[in-house]
Amino acid sequence: MNSVLTTYVIGLLSVMVMSAEEEFKMTILHNNDMHARFEQTTESKHGRYVGGFGRVATIVKQARAEAASRNGSAPVLYLNAGDTYTGTIWFSVHRWKIAARFLNALKPDVTCLGNHEFDDGISGLDPFVTAADFPIVAANIDFRNETVLAANVKPHVVLNVEGRKVGIIGYLTPETELMATIGNIRIQDEVTAIRRECERLKKEGVNIIIALGHSGFKTDRRIAEEVKDVDLVIGGHTNSFLWNGPPPDKEKPEDTYPSRVVQKNGKIVPVVQAYAYTKYMGKLDVVFDKEGTLVRFQGQPILLDEKIAQDGEMLALLEEFRPAVDKYNKQVVGRTRTYLNGETCRLRECNFGNVLVDSFVDYVTTMYKAEGSYWTSAPIAIVNGGAIRMSINASIPPANGNITAGDILGAVPFRQQLVTVDMLGKDLLATLELGARSDGETSRGEFLQVSGLKVVYDFSRPPGGRVVSAKARCGRCYVPTYSPVAPDVSYRLVTTGFLLNGGDGHTVVRDRAIKVNLEDQDDSEALRRYFQFYRVLTPQEEERIVVYNHPLLPPEEEYAPASAIRIERSVGLNVILTLLLIMYQTINISK
Ligand SMILES: *[C@@H]1O[C@H](CO)[C@@H](O)[C@H](O)[C@H]1NC(C)=O
Ligand SMILES: *[C@@H]1O[C@H](CO)[C@@H](O)[C@H](O)[C@H]1NC(C)=O
Ligand SMILES: *[C@@H]1O[C@H](CO)[C@@H](O)[C@H](O)[C@H]1NC(C)=O
Ligand SMILES: *[C@@H]1O[C@H](CO)[C@@H](O)[C@H](O)[C@H]1NC(C)=O
Ligand SMILES: [Zn+2]
Repeated sequence: MNSVLTTYVIGLLSVMVMSAEEEFKMTILHNNDMHARFEQTTESKHGRYVGGFGRVATIVKQARAEAASRNGSAPVLYLNAGDTYTGTIWFSVHRWKIAARFLNALKPDVTCLGNHEFDDGISGLDPFVTAADFPIVAANIDFRNETVLAANVKPHVVLNVEGRKVGIIGYLTPETELMATIGNIRIQDEVTAIRRECERLKKEGVNIIIALGHSGFKTDRRIAEEVKDVDLVIGGHTNSFLWNGPPPDKEKPEDTYPSRVVQKNGKIVPVVQAYAYTKYMGKLDVVFDKEGTLVRFQGQPILLDEKIAQDGEMLALLEEFRPAVDKYNKQVVGRTRTYLNGETCRLRECNFGNVLVDSFVDYVTTMYKAEGSYWTSAPIAIVNGGAIRMSINASIPPANGNITAGDILGAVPFRQQLVTVDMLGKDLLATLELGARSDGETSRGEFLQVSGLKVVYDFSRPPGGRVVSAKARCGRCYVPTYSPVAPDVSYRLVTTGFLLNGGDGHTVVRDRAIKVNLEDQDDSEALRRYFQFYRVLTPQEEERIVVYNHPLLPPEEEYAPASAIRIERSVGLNVILTLLLIMYQTINISK
């Protein structure tokens, strides 16, 4: 053969080998906030079946099989961004065990922790991280005082993907401290911690770096912007739906898929999430050069609808867990004549909230004999609206009024221990203010549902000054009546361990309430007992809470206590309201 031609061919081959070496491709599958959708649901536009771990597994297995066939497809990483816990009766019954079994079956390459993984405290997370067969990462958590977590959760992992080192750094929102019982851990700023891990990874010769975490879309983008060595950010927590073109179901896209962040130096960093509830699987194809620079990327999530088959192994696993769930779902505990609305409990009074806190008062009232022949020792109860996760629609066929244990556990899933406390009136008022403090910067889960209180809020006032008036029910009385909350009088009330620990930012309960008794009952059990005892209930809204000028409530919902106000609307509602507020204030000041 002609030696010139031979040289040319060898040269050409080496160019091809070189470029193949230089171009490193991966397919990244990712999802987040699966929230216990082990079984498919009908959370779609036409009530069609979507999601479920069976469909997630089908996508992951197919992609891995294609990659393994070396048929030209890139290696696959499946990464999960946390919040597998909580959201359905499956989790309420089986807790960490079902989460660990299903995730082990899915075999994610790496996961991170979500805030909801702390829903059962450290004791509900330790067995999960111990049972997990996959790496779990979190760089911004100081675990030193929690040895099981310290042993099983690492700041980062380095994966060897076809000879290339890929570093994956975890993060979790520091707000978890406000939302859950986190034991002796400290959660730090994400950016600082991820920068520190990047330095470590670079020293190990890792030049492809992915941040995988659970802090919400805003923070995901901040990480992409501020951490210069991060190549890709995979997030969760805000259930952000990213999509290119017309969306395939009812979710409205927040941005393109992926979202792009341009750093100061011009580097483009893709940021992705994949909505929630196993409804979509994010899929991003990425190409890196030899130096670990991301040179190309493109993708689109996959809607996991009925076109995607459900993996048989996952369906079989579900059957293992079904009997205990069925038992709950079939156990009728009582009846309701009304729809139990759990959708508005973060904004205003909801009848589901009313029946829940009434069950707290009833529990303590029946468990303990009140002093003398008074009716109760604890006439008041409060709970955060976020404790109620869904409505119960059981007043009509097919349930015909029957409420099951499954309905209750599904809707009030956190199993927060009841606690009786004493609080001064001024601290109770400060707590109501904390519940109404949000201007949208929180999930508003801190808004309080009340029993034995009548509260008027005005959201046109600044946070901390929104309680217009508050009246409390007496317990040391023969006939319960309401009188204004007095700052220096002590009130006995029932609430949950969540609030006593300062959950949802309720630092006043945490710091000022005097713990009287930890009750041998949790919130959903108290509600179950209440239905079982009274058989038929008719929970309603009854002006325990009156809300004016809430930015998220339409004027119709901004219902007023007196019909007179509705009539005056045409005259000038604002004038009337202002007069009323001044009257309320004057009355309060003169007392
Ligand atoms: C390999 O690729 C061919 C052509 O794209 C396709 O028909 C075949 O199914 C693939 N094999 C596997 C195992 O994915
Ligand atoms: C660990 O516990 C010690 C002793 O209780 C405490 O002083 C320290 O602040 C804790 N450190 C962390 C990181 O939680
Ligand atoms: C309750 O369920 C029924 C039947 O499934 C449905 O027609 C109705 O709209 C639901 N009610 C609410 C308030 O969602
Ligand atoms: C409601 O519960 C009662 C008592 O368990 C049962 O006899 C009845 O069949 C149930 N009705 C429906 C519609 O499920
Ligand atoms: Zn979350």
